[in-house]
Amino acid sequence: MATIIDGKALAAKIRQEIANEVNSVAAAAGRRPGLAVIQVGADPASSVYVRNKKKACEEAGIVSFGYDLPEDASQEQLLELIEALNQDERVDGILCQLPLPDHMDEFTVLNAIRPEKDVDGFHPVNVGLLSTGHKSLVSCTPAGVLEMLKAYNIEIKGKRCVIIGRSNIVGKPVAQLMLREHATVTIAHSRTVDLPKICRDADILIAAVGRAEMVTADYIKPGATVIDVGINRNEQGKLVGDVRFEEASQIAGAITPVPGGVGPMTIAMLLKNTVQAYRQARGIL
Ligand code: GUN
Repeated sequence: MATIIDGKALAAKIRQEIANEVNSVAAAAGRRPGLAVIQVGADPASSVYVRNKKKACEEAGIVSFGYDLPEDASQEQLLELIEALNQDERVDGILCQLPLPDHMDEFTVLNAIRPEKDVDGFHPVNVGLLSTGHKSLVSCTPAGVLEMLKAYNIEIKGKRCVIIGRSNIVGKPVAQLMLREHATVTIAHSRTVDLPKICRDADILIAAVGRAEMVTADYIKPGATVIDVGINRNEQGKLVGDVRFEEASQIAGAITPVPGGVGPMTIAMLLKNTVQAYRQARGIL
């Protein structure tokens, strides 16, 4: 039976550390870090994420500023709001919850956020800094994955890492992070031929496809570490990952559960990024 990587417990520990750090830094600087969270429309899943993000901020002593725009808001309105927040000195981080309504262009909107305040790490400047191996704000889910591997002392250097999924939010940035940690990295995706065979090569398998329980035992090398980024509902309406946990945990060496794995780490990393942006803005290093 595999070691279960407990993201919930690790995230709670990190959040406590951040709360302590915020208390001491904010007392010295005379201002708490601030995060602006923008939601356009009322997608129910986004509303849950946004609520959890704001709550986590408050628990860590970070001030959260919520902005809810209606589904039919114009892109101009959103860009004006972002520009106001770029200028607002109380705001260290700006997060615009995705997905955006169809009439908005995601690239234009993410580009409008000042890179120094881009706590999601989605701005092309931050993406470019990451891929050239420079310090940047790193997108939260990939950062959470790396933090979990390190906390459980899982060797990355020289190991084979296969990522299933090539999204801008997870697949591509997690590949860059693993490369920076000296793994040999393969990005596989829906068009990859003989996916199970490629995955069976992996010492570290990261599933970020968004298809309920697609990864079965025959994708996994015995003893491998399996990181499940998926959050899906199966046919019974139960929350499941991209990995079939019961059978995968019989063969893997270590595995993250869903829920309680990567999900809580994403929020912890958002807080960490907000404090990093705050420190950089105030020259506290
Ligand atoms: N939608 C799904 N995941 C994310 C995320 O990490 N950040 C934002 N802003 N939107 C998302």
